[in-house]
Amino acid sequence: MSNLFYQAHGRKPVLDQARGVYMWDQDGKRYLDGSSGAMVCNVGHSNETVLTAMRRQMEKSTFGYRLHFETEASEQLATKLAGLMPEGLNKVFFVSGGSEAVESGLKLARQYAVATGQDTRWKVISRRPSYHGCSLGALAVTGYSPLTAPFTPMMQEMPKIPAPRAYLDGLDADDTATGLYYADMLEAKILVEGPESVLAFIVEPVGGASTGALVPPRGYMERIREICTRHGILLIMDEVMTGAGRTGKFLGSDHWQARPDIVVMSKGLGAGYVPLGAMIADERLVTPILDQGGFAHGFTYAGNPLACAAGLAVLNEIEMQDLCANAAVMGNGLLARLNGLMQKYELIGDVRGKGLLTAFEFMGDRDSKAPLPASLNAHQRFVDLAYARGLIVYSRRTRDGTHGDHILVCPPLIVNAGHIDEIIEGLDASLAQFSQEIHADLKAA
Ligand SMILES: Cc1ncc(COP(=O)(O)O)c(C=O)c1O
Repeated sequence: MSNLFYQAHGRKPVLDQARGVYMWDQDGKRYLDGSSGAMVCNVGHSNETVLTAMRRQMEKSTFGYRLHFETEASEQLATKLAGLMPEGLNKVFFVSGGSEAVESGLKLARQYAVATGQDTRWKVISRRPSYHGCSLGALAVTGYSPLTAPFTPMMQEMPKIPAPRAYLDGLDADDTATGLYYADMLEAKILVEGPESVLAFIVEPVGGASTGALVPPRGYMERIREICTRHGILLIMDEVMTGAGRTGKFLGSDHWQARPDIVVMSKGLGAGYVPLGAMIADERLVTPILDQGGFAHGFTYAGNPLACAAGLAVLNEIEMQDLCANAAVMGNGLLARLNGLMQKYELIGDVRGKGLLTAFEFMGDRDSKAPLPASLNAHQRFVDLAYARGLIVYSRRTRDGTHGDHILVCPPLIVNAGHIDEIIEGLDASLAQFSQEIHADLKAA
């Protein structure tokens, strides 16, 4: 019996300690954290420099409410973050998580429109599938049916366009025509909705849990930027999962010439040490809002000095250890090895990703791209098999949350080649068992 509850029935082992890429439960069993929790622990567990910075800050103060005090920690983190953003994105608003960061970005965009005489603009276009958070505003721009369906009567529905899943549509993601084909769906949607009613487009530069590390086809991101500019629409980059080095550059969108107007970040910024997130906006959006009475938004714990001191230490570690470069190099190696597993196991139908945001997708039939029957619950079964072997990976359903199965492999950015070997060995052994069980179930059906 427990008084605690989360999404479902079921219990897990109790965590005892965690260091680097490893975690131990209270029975002494060791796990390799192959998903950085939920793609959070970018600098690994129990990093001594981060812990020291937190201890130091705790001895001074843990909370100073922003209406009463400024703090050195929040000022320094804002300066550091602004320095890592594209030119002009130099106004930082702190929050305590990804959903809060997304809400803040949506509301800043809307207040900017109101402050500049564009009151007709309120629609935020997003993609399906996508995940932008669980609060009702973030959920309204999320395209993932199992999470959104119960709440649709309570939300303002927002327009969606298809995510650019070239591999499922049999298109070549390296062909610019493919990128333009999907990006132009944004323009078509804007025209249907009425350009004067559209406020923003929100996008995960590399897809997260809902698509399984979907990398946009060539030309897509640049065209998206062009379309937003043409119609006076703000481009909000949801970097909650991709930010803080996960894809091999500090921001996922740094891989393309697609400068965002607003960036939202969280997971890798607090890196599992503290609840922390940030919305970083172009100064030209913030000034008119502050000039006209202020941003009507904020969360109590925002910018608390303990979280900011931890965030600053995390960013320093990413820089000192050159973790963006390590994510790029280790990610390339990991992708090559996952492709090797795809050669070996016919149930794997696609491998994709960038840096250490990688995934593979199970398919019932590679040629037709048919998913495995949903009743097999393949993604969860695979996660459980790997977990039993001491390897933690993360999974979701690929096709709007109802069908398809993908596994995200996203270890902390501090991994070395030995850790990658260990991950591949764990995946290989789990895949052997998984294939046997799934084929037996398919035969029996
Ligand atoms: C891209 C993206 N945006 C927003 C969120 C919401 O973040 P949080 O769970 O911290 O509220 C997530 C979480 O998985 C995410 O991956």
